[in-house]
Amino acid sequence: MKGIHILATGRAVPKHIVTNDDMAEIVDTNDEWIRERTGITSRYKCEDETCTSLAIEAASKALKRSGIDKKSVYAVIVATTTAETAFPSTACMVQKALGLPDEVMAFDMSAACTGFVYGLNVCRGLLMTEPGKRIILVGSEQISRIIDYTDRQSCILFGDGAGAAVIEGSNDEFYHRAWSDGDSDMEALYCKGIGHDGAHLMMNGKKVFRFAVGAMQQGIDGVLEDAGLSIGDVDFIVCHQANLRIIRNVMKKYDVPQEKFYVNIDRYANTSAASIIIALDEMFEKGMLHRGMKVICVGFGAGLTWSSALLTI
Ligand code: UT7
Repeated sequence: MKGIHILATGRAVPKHIVTNDDMAEIVDTNDEWIRERTGITSRYKCEDETCTSLAIEAASKALKRSGIDKKSVYAVIVATTTAETAFPSTACMVQKALGLPDEVMAFDMSAACTGFVYGLNVCRGLLMTEPGKRIILVGSEQISRIIDYTDRQSCILFGDGAGAAVIEGSNDEFYHRAWSDGDSDMEALYCKGIGHDGAHLMMNGKKVFRFAVGAMQQGIDGVLEDAGLSIGDVDFIVCHQANLRIIRNVMKKYDVPQEKFYVNIDRYANTSAASIIIALDEMFEKGMLHRGMKVICVGFGAGLTWSSALLTI
């Protein structure tokens, strides 16, 4: 076994849509500024839903679409930084709600917006020890729980949502790179543990912006180098959806048609660990992805963390 294969995906979003005009009722902002500076037009926000319920809904759709026997599931991994409970983990709740057997490893992974891409290689490692088994990898965030709705710079940027993938081992090409820089000052992206007073996301937008463009380029170049491929050999690049201008700056580094970069930030905003898997799920739904295609997923986030994966679909 060399790599991993995505058997099926699913996604879930809250019912409530918050438009830019709605945001302008909360903070001193406006639709034009948000669209121009971020590419966002609306985002979803939990009312009755939670990080757990979104994770369960997305995972259950992916499991159903995969058609696999529940007994073949070896692990449930949820990438999140906004879990409802420190324990049990969100993954344990997903395991129960999906009626998976007890003999399943279930745990949450905290790597902020990079969680899903880190998770792909965690899946690969685990599946190497368990040939024939499957893993349900989820990215789920109720990021609205930690948003400071008085900070106009950050509150307009984020949205709630979840995506899930059923993953199995394969002999397909798979390349992965990962970085973390815990030394970096906490000014860029910081949040106290949930439950502490004032546990809000704090961000230095400009710092993160500069870091993001270089980090995503490093990620893309890294897996291309490992694979001995050029960007033209890849069918799609799915960047973490944090800001359309960040994605456009990354696009400028490569001589490829813009359509190679999938973008859906307009309708979701930044859903952190969920953003890449939500994008993949939309792409599968639209019939854009076919067996054998090569896709680079590349993410960055708090930590700082950043990572890329070159997947064969
Ligand atoms: O998953 C990772 C999470 N974080 C990120 O990816 C964040 C990356 N950074 C960004 O996306 C951008 O830096 C922001 C969208 C956060 C800010 O965009 P910017 O182009 O860097 O704007 P800025 O900070 O330079 O601010 C320009 C102006 C300022 O006003 P003055 O000082 O020029 O008068 C801000 O106060 O825009 C003002 N501003 C706003 N105006 C209207 C900041 N936020 C807003 C707002 N509405 N929401």
